[in-house]
Amino acid sequence: MWGVFFLGYFLLHIQKKVTSRRATPDMRPFKMNLSGNFNSYSQQSHFIFIMLLIKVMLWLVLTLSFSSIYADNATTSLYQQFPPTAEGTGKVYMGREIAHVMGYQGAAWLERENREQEERTDVLIQSLNLKPGMTVADIGAGTGYLTRKMATRVTNTGTVYAVDVQPEMVGKLKAAARQHTNIKPILSKEDNVNLPANSVDLAIMVDVYHELAYPYEVIQSVLKALKPNGQLVLVEYRAEDDKVPIKATHKMSEAQIKAEMRVHPLKWQRTISSLPWQHVVIFTKQ
Ligand SMILES: C[S@@+](CC[C@H](N)C(=O)[O-])C[C@H]1O[C@@H](n2cnc3c(N)ncnc32)[C@H](O)[C@@H]1O
Repeated sequence: MWGVFFLGYFLLHIQKKVTSRRATPDMRPFKMNLSGNFNSYSQQSHFIFIMLLIKVMLWLVLTLSFSSIYADNATTSLYQQFPPTAEGTGKVYMGREIAHVMGYQGAAWLERENREQEERTDVLIQSLNLKPGMTVADIGAGTGYLTRKMATRVTNTGTVYAVDVQPEMVGKLKAAARQHTNIKPILSKEDNVNLPANSVDLAIMVDVYHELAYPYEVIQSVLKALKPNGQLVLVEYRAEDDKVPIKATHKMSEAQIKAEMRVHPLKWQRTISSLPWQHVVIFTKQ
């Protein structure tokens, strides 16, 4: 946007120069007589043509500047920026500070030996009722810890799209795909999951939603990928429980999750609260 402004300023500057030169015979760009008139009809037409061209360009630049200002406002009005807390980004969506993305450098933590025992990921997978042949999207799949478990459940007749925004994580998902041929790794954008439209039975985000830089846009893109009546499953550390040993910005309350999904065509179906640290909040596409 600023680039467009500077271009506008530059063009204004040129126009001023050309106009002022017209009034100063010593610096005139075209041959004029001393009264400031053009010597020939073709010089005059040339001058008028250049002035017209500059005006059209100015008009274009100003139109583009205003449209980019309005476009910026349309996107940022969903989000506000505040000074960040020690743990957050300072970017606020519906009263919640968005967390930093967990970097690929922390990948080993996702694969830690005692994860199943700490988080009861076996109970989580069981509660999803996955069936052979289903198409699942693991959004923010990380190292693929849960992707691999889900790939076994949907069997070779099904598919698990393993989506992540970090190329380093997608590298790990490609390694997982060599062991499980029904895993399809996908590099997403910050605001778009890049999944085929109308292709997914169940989309799941495990400890991901709270760190999406563009939560509204990502859920919209997930909705496009879901089949009619497809399910969206959000698994988040419980903010209601002080004993859950996770930083505040990486936790979400059930009420906040429901409030943020209410702005989308999604219907709350049920919440599973039997995991040690997380709740599993399930919605259906309307
Ligand atoms: C805390 S990790 C959880 C990984 C995995 N779900 C698990 O439980 O093992 C969060 C993951 O979400 C990914 N992520 C963050 N923002 C994303 C976005 N906009 N689209 C896709 N993935 C994203 C991060 O790159 C990271 O791998």
